[in-house]
Amino acid sequence: MKIPLSSPDITEAEIDAVVAVLRTSRLSLGPVTERFEAAVAEFVSLPHAIAVSSGTAGLHLCVRALGIGEGDEVIVPSFTFIAAANAIRYERAVPVFADIDATTLNIDPRSMEAAITPRTRAIVVVHTFGIPADMPAILEIAERHRLLVIEDACEAIGAEHTGHKAGSMGHAGVFAFYPNKQITTGEGGMVVTRDEALARRIRAMRNQGRYETDDWFQHTELGYNYRISEINCALGLAQMMRLEEILQKRAAVATAYHQRLTRYQDLILPPLAFPGGRISWFVYVVRLGDGSPLQRDHVLRGLTAAGIGCGRYFAPIHLQPSYAAWRNAAHLPVTETVAARSLALPFFNNLETAAMDEVCATLGHFLLPGQAG
Ligand SMILES: Cc1ncc(COP(=O)(O)O)c(C=O)c1O
Repeated sequence: MKIPLSSPDITEAEIDAVVAVLRTSRLSLGPVTERFEAAVAEFVSLPHAIAVSSGTAGLHLCVRALGIGEGDEVIVPSFTFIAAANAIRYERAVPVFADIDATTLNIDPRSMEAAITPRTRAIVVVHTFGIPADMPAILEIAERHRLLVIEDACEAIGAEHTGHKAGSMGHAGVFAFYPNKQITTGEGGMVVTRDEALARRIRAMRNQGRYETDDWFQHTELGYNYRISEINCALGLAQMMRLEEILQKRAAVATAYHQRLTRYQDLILPPLAFPGGRISWFVYVVRLGDGSPLQRDHVLRGLTAAGIGCGRYFAPIHLQPSYAAWRNAAHLPVTETVAARSLALPFFNNLETAAMDEVCATLGHFLLPGQAG
């Protein structure tokens, strides 16, 4: 691709930090992992952070350690990455899909409440594309129905709602550090919580079920190898030190896109600001307006042919082949309309002005003549 969809932002500071770990004899479960965990815990103002091998692993550990199991229903949006629902199925619990709000693209609290049954145990709230979900409404409903709340903040490190960081408002929160995320460890994730017992259990399950009091060949409960290496954490810690700079760079790219695209009446652009909170920009996703006769996939193919990286963010989970059993049960009109008309544009910290101009000009070429005003 001439202009990729995403690209990590690695400076000499990150390279030096990784090389420094390679010069030690400690490549896993060491001091750098602890420092990375402490930095994230402090950032979200919570006492516990547990670094893991991926966001998916973090979500799985939250579901399991919270005791969600066979037959329990867990409400989750379908307009998100498949890992949010898969983590529920790993424990033989049942994802129940709720619809989204057409502006924030986050779970609609009314649809969420309507999905509650006597078997509902929990909600997985996703802060989609780094826009904070309506946590006050969600937490109020969850409390009234005595439901657990897991925040999937994999796309949202640094997002805020009413002074609280995404990931810090539920029983547990999860971040992900795949290379397209705001900060990366290559592969990796982090669970955060204020619940000390939950944190201990997740820490043990990450490491084959070993508690601090166990020796290396003692396994108190069923666990996994969901550890992350010191090498990955060195990269993550160095990125974490630059998080504010990174968030500002990404917000500037979003603003620049907005300025270039706002004249196309065919397009619905993402909100540039979140009243009472902060967006942590993950991707820049535009949507063809409901009245537009344009086909999203036609635009997608055209941009791809011009060497511009773009993506269908998101293909709804309930329409995936691996969720065939859910396809007909779910009634998600907003999810299906939004998903059929959305398109992610190249978006990363160091996206240059000329590249952005080219993306917007190429996209503009597909928009209806006379729509530019
Ligand atoms: C909303 C959401 N949940 C979960 C994940 C899973 O994270 P990972 O790819 O690190 O397993 C991602 C990342 O792609 C995500 O966007």
